[in-house]
Amino acid sequence: MKKQRLLVVANRLPVSACRRGEDSWSLEISAGGLVSALLGVKDVDAKWIGWAGVNVPDVIGQKALVKALAEKRCIPVFLDEQIVHQYYNGYCNNILWPLFHYLGLPQEDGLATTHNFQSQFDAYKKANQMFADVVNQHYEEGDIVWCHDYHLMFLPKCLKDYNSKMKVGWFLHTPFPSSEIHRTLPSRLELLRSVLAADLVGFHTYDYARHFVSACTRILELEGTPEGVEDQGKLTRVAAFPIGIDSERFQRALELPPVKEKINELTKKFAGRKVMLGVDRLDMIKGIPQKILAFEKFLEENPAWHNKVILLQIAVPTRTDVPEYQKLTCQVHEIVGRINGRFGTLTAVPIHHLDRSLDFHALCALYAVTDVALVTSLRDGMNLVSYEFVACQGEKKGVLILSEFAGAAQSLGAGALLVNPWNITEVADSIAKALNMAADEREKRHRHNYAHVTTHTAQDWAETFVSELNDTVVEAQIRT
Ligand code: UDP
Ligand code: G6P
Repeated sequence: MKKQRLLVVANRLPVSACRRGEDSWSLEISAGGLVSALLGVKDVDAKWIGWAGVNVPDVIGQKALVKALAEKRCIPVFLDEQIVHQYYNGYCNNILWPLFHYLGLPQEDGLATTHNFQSQFDAYKKANQMFADVVNQHYEEGDIVWCHDYHLMFLPKCLKDYNSKMKVGWFLHTPFPSSEIHRTLPSRLELLRSVLAADLVGFHTYDYARHFVSACTRILELEGTPEGVEDQGKLTRVAAFPIGIDSERFQRALELPPVKEKINELTKKFAGRKVMLGVDRLDMIKGIPQKILAFEKFLEENPAWHNKVILLQIAVPTRTDVPEYQKLTCQVHEIVGRINGRFGTLTAVPIHHLDRSLDFHALCALYAVTDVALVTSLRDGMNLVSYEFVACQGEKKGVLILSEFAGAAQSLGAGALLVNPWNITEVADSIAKALNMAADEREKRHRHNYAHVTTHTAQDWAETFVSELNDTVVEAQIRT
């Protein structure tokens, strides 16, 4: 039997394009949890539709890029600079992203920049319609269309307006905030209504799903049921589908000779010191300043550990055209410089901060040599870095310090040391506890997390969502 086709629609394609010549392109794997998780999904007949991260104004360039991406089963949506500025930098990353992570609406001179909302929201709708147009060009009857994330909240409605029989699912990779937070958004009604056009709406945790249903009942005055949200007899199913990783891919990587070599090299380099690791996009939700300040407090209070521990912080540049991200970069550099000046010696510094991404093998080697991983997100949909760290710790059985505000706290809470990242004293104490933890306790905690990470995979996540979407559509047909 022919496999059901899956059209995965996300703002970011799994590969980002870089122009090499008039008609030549190189492609690089994109960073971020959404891409990592979807790359872990195998054995499906999937095509990706999304933005390749570049502006391509000319036809020659566009044609060449379409061809290069087709080899990766990707189809580009071409967004011009103006749209990217208003939709991606503006509405998505300056308004929705901070709001969904409880950082509030953007402020300028103490005032929310409401005058920009309308034009940015218009660009957001326009961009979503552009994604819908590309989906429509490639859609075949029976396909599943799976829309992803806060960039595409308008897409379910655009698709259903085009073809009400299309099977449409939407999944949010960020938290969905309390309805009291969502209420502050000027476009709160339209966004909820458009998402409700989907057949199935998914979140990482039960709490996010509950917040979404409350927003629909309180703001749209619709009826919430245990199944989802009902509007004049039409049910939109709402449920939690916690994401996972492809843990075997990490374990296989650790067996490769170049990765083993890298592990040996790093082990020699850090001999005599415990290694603490942070891996984050350089984003305000990741709590990087709070993490570094907690590390400073730990060093202040534990002179015996000076020169015996190092914090490696990989800070992947992200959304660099958004002013808030530029400010964060300066702030982090300043704090790191100050602490290294304060606690460094002629030959060593306590913090190695890298403003760059690492390739997959280098990342696996780093995870494997780490003694303590530090995830201090102020809010985070799930946080896959914590899963990846656990998957690579089969030998070392290091400790995970994890923010209670990351979705992962609900699955890895029993094995990790949970912290409130805003409480620097608590994080500093947890660093001390993690570094001094006895081997049997580390092993017990690791075992718990490892069992979860290796059994709740990205593959299971995608299969469950797709099968639930198929069932939802069948049930809706039976009801009508
Ligand atoms: N990652 C990456 N390149 C790097 C460092 C990290 O691609 O140099 C990946 C990492 O392996 C993980 C993802 O980026 O899969 C980050 O996902 P997470 O859910 O932790 O956070 P997000 O970036 O999605 O907010
Ligand atoms: C988060 C979002 C993704 C996004 C990723 C990287 O994981 O949920 O949708 O792709 O960050 O951000 P970027 O803006 O570079 O796509």
